[in-house]
Amino acid sequence: MNGSSAPALALHDVTCTFASRDNRRDRYTAVRDTTLAIASGEFVSVVGPTGCGKSTLLNVSAGLLAPSSGTVSVFGEKLAGINKRAGYMFQADGLMA
Ligand SMILES: Nc1ncnc2c1ncn2[C@@H]1O[C@H](COP(=O)(O)OP(=O)(O)OP(=O)(O)O)[C@@H](O)[C@H]1O
Ligand SMILES: [Mg+2]
Repeated sequence: MNGSSAPALALHDVTCTFASRDNRRDRYTAVRDTTLAIASGEFVSVVGPTGCGKSTLLNVSAGLLAPSSGTVSVFGEKLAGINKRAGYMFQADGLMA
């Protein structure tokens, strides 16, 4: 799929692992095998307990974090780098005074 019929955002089998904060030699899987598609104009909320991976999914969708495996597509195009079709308000403020 591509062009206007493609989802605005599609995650396919996205997995994100990090170096564990407890032991840097261990890997921690924050998000595993996540697949979703969001149409243009669709309003979606991601709900879950703290630490379940919501911000990780948003970071992947914005192109700020490359998934360890899986793919991200934006209007049918594989995302490589920043998602220029996305606006993103961060969870924590990051202004430098
Ligand atoms: N860069 C990182 N290095 C190591 N662990 C990380 C990193 N980023 C996120 N994590 C871990 O991945 C898990 C998911 O984090 P994430 O920030 O996506 O959760 P969240 O659902 O947004 O939580 P909250 O509701 O508190 O905002 C957490 O256990 C977090 O500690
Ligand atoms: Mg968060």
